Amino acid sequence: MKDAIVSPEEKVIILDFGSQYTQLIARSIRELKVYAEIVPYNQSLETIRRESPGGIILSGGPSSIYEKDSPQVSGEIFDLGVPVLGICYGLYSITDIFKGKMQASQQKEYGRAVINIKSRTGLFKDLKSKETVWMSHGDKVVVPPEGFRVTASSKNADIAAIENSKTKIYGVQFHPEVYHTENGKKILKNFLFNICGFKGKWSMKSFVAQSIEAIKNEVGSGTVLLGLSGGVDSSVAAVLLQRAIGDRLYPVFVNNGVLRKNEAEIVIRRFKETLNLNLVYVDASDRFLKKLKGVEDPETKRKIIGREFIKVFINESKKIGRFDFLAQGTLYPDVIESVSTKGPSDTIKSHHNRVPEVLKLIKSGKVIEPLKELFKDEVRALGKELGMSDGLIHRHPFPGPGLAIRIIGEVTGERLQILQEADDILVSEIKNAGLYNKLWQIFAVFLPVRSVGVMGDKRTYENVIAIRGVTSVDAMTADWAYLPEAVLRHISGRIINEVKGVNRVVYDISSKPPSTIEWE
Ligand code: XMP
Repeated sequence: MKDAIVSPEEKVIILDFGSQYTQLIARSIRELKVYAEIVPYNQSLETIRRESPGGIILSGGPSSIYEKDSPQVSGEIFDLGVPVLGICYGLYSITDIFKGKMQASQQKEYGRAVINIKSRTGLFKDLKSKETVWMSHGDKVVVPPEGFRVTASSKNADIAAIENSKTKIYGVQFHPEVYHTENGKKILKNFLFNICGFKGKWSMKSFVAQSIEAIKNEVGSGTVLLGLSGGVDSSVAAVLLQRAIGDRLYPVFVNNGVLRKNEAEIVIRRFKETLNLNLVYVDASDRFLKKLKGVEDPETKRKIIGREFIKVFINESKKIGRFDFLAQGTLYPDVIESVSTKGPSDTIKSHHNRVPEVLKLIKSGKVIEPLKELFKDEVRALGKELGMSDGLIHRHPFPGPGLAIRIIGEVTGERLQILQEADDILVSEIKNAGLYNKLWQIFAVFLPVRSVGVMGDKRTYENVIAIRGVTSVDAMTADWAYLPEAVLRHISGRIINEVKGVNRVVYDISSKPPSTIEWE
């Protein structure tokens, strides 16, 4: 496979049948310090054999085994002599191949369920006789295949788990990779360490070595273009790529005129001087600001910035000359709604790394996304492993359209300056209070609402700054952050006293949903 990682000592191959949880299996296994790689369910036996995995997992999937053209695993997988664990659809595949019997269940089971464990050995070693698990299925096994015994049952399924300990083939109806399966980690641990015999030696260090080798193999003597935003993801991708191909990486940083205070200078210094990257800096701020003149509608602002960015980026790439690959710092949650870009169900969500212009570039060149199997916290761990500073790897996310979507209404030079100053005070005070790393994001928003104030003996009639601070795990949901009163008081005092044009500061106490994190 294009982005296959070269053979580490201990590896699990996950055959993907398209479950929304497939990446969670990989992540859980990586957390247990074993390397996991996802391949399509119909990956050739030849390739799998070459990868010499020490364990194979058959993922769940949205299909019913009864559907015409439902995905079928090759029976030869089981001749490799490698332990196999089938999860949900994976269990049905095992049952189908070894001639057990299944039926569509009258009672579909979704959500939490309790299983009764009949045999607390093998996969279920050290578990209780009753365990809470996460079920999500319609079909069920009614007769176990020959040579298999039933190891657990649930209210709606007499056969919730099976095993053939001689051939080391196991199947479970439920999802051990999902957080709600209380002892799911223990089950995976039993599979990896007791059944496959792994030692758990994999680490981010190995990931770095494997990725560098994979990038080198793929790029050869070619050149790579990367859009660098200065945020965590593209920065980590840049450093990783630089390790692999050095100066043949061209990170392009576009100043779109709606960056935070001193952001351009900080990024240039950091990447050129500290990280020694071959940075290409393009100051296109005038061009962006001109296009944004008079525009109030949030969607129009977003579209203008997105379109201009692509134009500038393509322009710049032409100046550099022919490049062979485009690299992006896409993370797994960015493609999460595609379900699986490698498996059978491949509907891609329109994320900013997947807009039509980029897709066109993807088609014409080749695209490298070295972080696309990772979650944010894993990318931060990777950044640390690469020796990047804490300040950089713990930066809060910053949207592509920048401060333009934090200025309600038209973006003007004056508003931009007010917001940059207020935001700078806010973030530096939050850092001083030791709160920055506890928050998912905190930023200022410019509200073009005038309200009356009094400063000295004078009446003022100025703008409002709103503070938005949230805690979150993945930005899909978020809670407004409860900040100490003294910190808020200090921030508000500084903004009103130091930023000309602001006489009122408010704190946003809305959670997501129903509010979004950004205001526009
Ligand atoms: P919302 O406002 O949708 O934001 O709750 C969720 C997360 O996504 C970030 N965000 C963006 N990031 N381009 C980006 O790269 C964008 O257009 C964009 N819009 C929102 C936002 O900052 C938050 O972390």
